[in-house]
Amino acid sequence: MKVCRRVNFNAAHRLYRPDWSDEKNNEVFGKCNNPNFHGHNYVMEVWVEGKVDSETGYVIDLKILKQIINDHIVNEFDHKNLNLDCEEFESLIPTAENIIAVSWKKLRNALDPKYRLKLKLWETENNIFEYSGE
Ligand code: NI
Repeated sequence: MKVCRRVNFNAAHRLYRPDWSDEKNNEVFGKCNNPNFHGHNYVMEVWVEGKVDSETGYVIDLKILKQIINDHIVNEFDHKNLNLDCEEFESLIPTAENIIAVSWKKLRNALDPKYRLKLKLWETENNIFEYSGE
């Protein structure tokens, strides 16, 4: 059985490599290399798969899942500049691919290992990412 909690966070980022020239950064990252950053309204779905507990009728108490997501994702990333405010992205480009992988690791560490975990991340309405650990 799979259950999902959906959350939103707003964050700014810039895609660039300090070890590349301006020309190369512009060529690869285009507008996402804007030196003054730009923002997205990210939407994340956290899918947890496990057995239904016979006593509670729950796979996982969604109140508890909500708290875990708030502690590890929303409070970390919401209204932040990912490049400047989040140590995870000090030397990692905050692409959606890297944001979802970092988020997955954080939640994986916080969740009981008995659950399987899959994340979906919308960076825009049309750019969607999915990650389940590989
Ligand atoms: Ni962007």
